[in-house]
Amino acid sequence: MTATIIDGKAIAEQVIEKVKHRVTKLQQQGITPGLTVVLVGEDAASQTYVGSKERTSKRLGMNSTVIQKPSSISEQELLEIIQELNAAPDVHGILVQLPLPKHIDENKVLQSIDPQKDVDGFHPLNVGKLLLDQQGFIPCTPFGIIQLLDYAGISIEGKHAVIVGRSNIVGKPMGQLLLNRHATVTYTHSRTPNLKDFTTQADILIVATGQPSMITGEHIKPGAAVIDVGIHRDSDGRLSGDVAFDSAKDVAGAITPVPGGVGPMTIAMLMENTCLSAERQAE
Ligand code: GUN
Repeated sequence: MTATIIDGKAIAEQVIEKVKHRVTKLQQQGITPGLTVVLVGEDAASQTYVGSKERTSKRLGMNSTVIQKPSSISEQELLEIIQELNAAPDVHGILVQLPLPKHIDENKVLQSIDPQKDVDGFHPLNVGKLLLDQQGFIPCTPFGIIQLLDYAGISIEGKHAVIVGRSNIVGKPMGQLLLNRHATVTYTHSRTPNLKDFTTQADILIVATGQPSMITGEHIKPGAAVIDVGIHRDSDGRLSGDVAFDSAKDVAGAITPVPGGVGPMTIAMLMENTCLSAERQAE
């Protein structure tokens, strides 16, 4: 069997087209959705992600601002910037790119963002709302994965979803979203013994470990949907994921490629969340 490739790039374009219509509608009411990204330090991967976010929001006709600060910025200075953004009526979405330098308390910074502008969905209030299945903001990567499954026609209700990785950004909210959609959810992580015993039970396998090619065909139940959140660049500059694609595609029923799978969806959902924030503030 060869898996169906889930084309994240094409699906992200469809999401972006829908957001574009909503942005046009807001502009007719005199509102331009505004996203401000705060980037601290010179991390190369972060700079690439932020560049993509900026390009896409501009393409959609949103106001996009990047505030770039050196890694020597104090926690207090960063908190003051966020207070100003919280108070700015033309800023609908605030995103502080992670990771932050070690001398800055990440939790403190994330908690200082107005929950109504928290388009990353990382504020504890939005995390709690996700747990309670209430309206807030859903973190972009897991939100994008749900969209990928829906667009690809993969049903969630009643399925066994196994998550590999338990980060606050992906693994934990992913499990909660799938649970809210009536999947049976198993969380696994770096201290799960006999990982394969769990992953081979998955109808939907979400891999977000940060370990290149750690999931192979042997970990996968024949016909399963496999979602690869990882992105790694090898010494030749080639991109690959947490899943060994060539061995996995012969067993899975559907699989996301790297690049062109989850990555474009994360950005599309950030646009969706920013637009949603502007719509809510316009009400
Ligand atoms: N760093 C890696 N992924 C993310 C993300 O989704 N949001 C933010 N703010 N930083 C990140």
